[in-house]
Amino acid sequence: MPKVAIIGGTGVYDARMLENVTKAVVDTPYGTAWVATGGYQGLEVAFVARHGAGHSVPPHLVNYRANIYALSSMGVERIIATAAVGSLRQEMKPGHFVIVDQFLDFTRSRPSTFYEGGERGVIHCDVTVPYCEEVGALLVDTARQMGIPVHAGGTYVCTEGPRFETAAEIRMFAQLGGDVVGMTSVPECVLAREMGMCYATVAMVTNYAAGISPTKLTHTEVIDIMAANVANLRRILMGAVGAVSASRGCGCADILEEIARLRGQETD
Ligand code: HPA
Repeated sequence: MPKVAIIGGTGVYDARMLENVTKAVVDTPYGTAWVATGGYQGLEVAFVARHGAGHSVPPHLVNYRANIYALSSMGVERIIATAAVGSLRQEMKPGHFVIVDQFLDFTRSRPSTFYEGGERGVIHCDVTVPYCEEVGALLVDTARQMGIPVHAGGTYVCTEGPRFETAAEIRMFAQLGGDVVGMTSVPECVLAREMGMCYATVAMVTNYAAGISPTKLTHTEVIDIMAANVANLRRILMGAVGAVSASRGCGCADILEEIARLRGQETD
């Protein structure tokens, strides 16, 4: 059973970095997920292409619940996700990487919890620390050892998309403390937290966000920078996947004990 999974965002669509890949269609109570599994340095690793093969699913229509539920049901405990982001800060330049440690949620229409009452009940999940600090530190170390420009920590502003932002929105996000902007980290990060999984993101800056960039922002620009730097993204990702420990020293699973307590059960 894979204990580690990759969720590949823009530019990371296939599991070719893994060996002997098998693909499975996983049915979940939330719909279907497509999960590939393969070997990497002796580890079994699962892979989900967030936007589907060839980027066919926009951010607001990704079935985040099916993806996270499928990975959890396969035994995955730690997820490393990739994301393309726009930068709100001059010092976070296109081609740089940011290991985000907080988010601001500006999504609007996405199912964002597994706990909607009924059998699963109602849970208010703590997201004081939304991203796994242990896996995040590993991503930072991996990038630094490789000499790749990386920022340790940053606040990810998650918008609904699929449009890019107005210059006024970006000015507001910057004033609120946002560092980078993207369209996918929420609810993916939250759903992983609800399942007691570690979740960390390596965000790649593909552009300066609207109004920060002197030029007009285009989807092509995002894809071009992504293509130029995707090799570095894969190096960080696979370096961290190879080094991630199966035993967890973080608090990401604590929620499961709380849920068990709330349900009046013992965890062990
Ligand atoms: N805004 C939102 N999402 C993005 C951007 C952006 O500027 N760049 C890459 N993903």
